[in-house]
Amino acid sequence: MLRWLLSLVLLAASPAAAQIPHFKDDRLIVDGKPFLILGGELGNSSASNREWLRPKWQRMKDAHLNTVLAPVNWELIEPEEGRFDFSSVDWLIEDARAHDMRLVLLWFGAWKNSMSTYTPAWVKRDRKRFPSTVDADGKAQEILSVFGAATRESDARAFGALMRHLKQVDGDRHTVIMVQVENEIGFLSTAREHGAAADAAFAKWKGGEEEFTAHHYARFVEALAAAGKREYALPLFVNGAQGRPGKKPGEYPSGGPLAHLMQIWRKQAPSIDFIAPDIYFPNFAEIARGYQTKGNPFFIPEANNAGDKRAAANALHAIGALGAFGFSPFSIENLPEGDMLGSLYAVLDGLTPSLFAAKGKAGFATPVTFDNIVDEAPQASVLGAYRFTVNFIDPWTAKDKQVPAEHGGILLWIGGDDYLVAGGGITVTVEPADGKGKAGLELVEEGSFVDGRWVPGRRLNGDQTHQGRHIRLPPGSHSVQRVRIYRYG
Ligand code: DGJ
Repeated sequence: MLRWLLSLVLLAASPAAAQIPHFKDDRLIVDGKPFLILGGELGNSSASNREWLRPKWQRMKDAHLNTVLAPVNWELIEPEEGRFDFSSVDWLIEDARAHDMRLVLLWFGAWKNSMSTYTPAWVKRDRKRFPSTVDADGKAQEILSVFGAATRESDARAFGALMRHLKQVDGDRHTVIMVQVENEIGFLSTAREHGAAADAAFAKWKGGEEEFTAHHYARFVEALAAAGKREYALPLFVNGAQGRPGKKPGEYPSGGPLAHLMQIWRKQAPSIDFIAPDIYFPNFAEIARGYQTKGNPFFIPEANNAGDKRAAANALHAIGALGAFGFSPFSIENLPEGDMLGSLYAVLDGLTPSLFAAKGKAGFATPVTFDNIVDEAPQASVLGAYRFTVNFIDPWTAKDKQVPAEHGGILLWIGGDDYLVAGGGITVTVEPADGKGKAGLELVEEGSFVDGRWVPGRRLNGDQTHQGRHIRLPPGSHSVQRVRIYRYG
């Protein structure tokens, strides 16, 4: 208790730059300020070779990313037991700094996508010390058992060594702002492990098989997270692979950090700051909502594949409506040139201080079902004294030339009658929230934020606001407009 109080006092007293990245009210604070991760995750093998990755940084910079999510492989950093080689981490940090980017590191340890392929050879070849699981037919799988005590100790020791190293080389700079523990944990192809240790533990368990699996994976992760935090208390999280509707645990990675297992994960792995979804299915908003709980800061480490044209709308919804503190498509080094994500990140980059200072905010995108049915109906939100109705079908673009599911926006209430509207492919109409009189557009101007200051572009009126009837952010790119509203009648 005393130590905890002391660290709170020290945190309050220490200068912003000296503070370790941490959470406050579910916001990620980096160097004393709320931070919005405009991110992208590298493909699994892309951070294993510096020369391979070298030409890709500029493309990511051009797409206005401020953070790259990059794997750190156990096999690379501990090639022999007890001998650590952090060169693959050090060049990553150097290259990120050279491009003024932050990093979120992904610890590929005992499990990566349920399997154990990133473990060092000395682990792979010693199944006595590091037992593997068996499948439904009793055959060994390339999955380490969660009941292997040496597996847990070795993985935790390596993870602790990584965090100690990060503190040494980056503790004063915070290029690395968070670390993910393992990757898409979950058991395949049955709901729980079988074998002597697992069966004995299950015989004493009161509850279902998937809960049992979640409990033991979370306890294992806690051993790593606690060892890591003792060295360097960066924010830590785990990511969950989602199941298709109707699939049973084991048909998808059973017991992973999934929304329906949130309580088990949060209770059994208290050193983990949040659990996060990886979302590749079309029903982005539905999956995302399951993770949006107070006390579970919300971030999507894998949000669509880079180049997915719906990613930008999903980001707008996640950040504007669900309070996400970041977004990160997968395989970001392969983002096609000119992808809309870049224009969105450019807008969000300028908008970040307003986003965190806003008196109210809302985010808009069309809901999509797992089977790809898009609900294009307008959506309304009350912010301040006005009700805003957002339409996803652009009135000035031929219907067959637009895809409403790729359109979306964020609305910020700055205070009084002032608002910022950002996004693309939406029109917004306004009326008084109390139903009295009418609302008009006193001022609409396009512009951008330069060094935190609003620099106006064209004053929009006439055709650009349909003679005062709506605010319009055209499809095809992302932009931001400043709006002042007045009431009449
Ligand atoms: C989800 C995993 O977390 C990633 O590491 C990668 O394997 C992608 N799937 C591939 O789609």
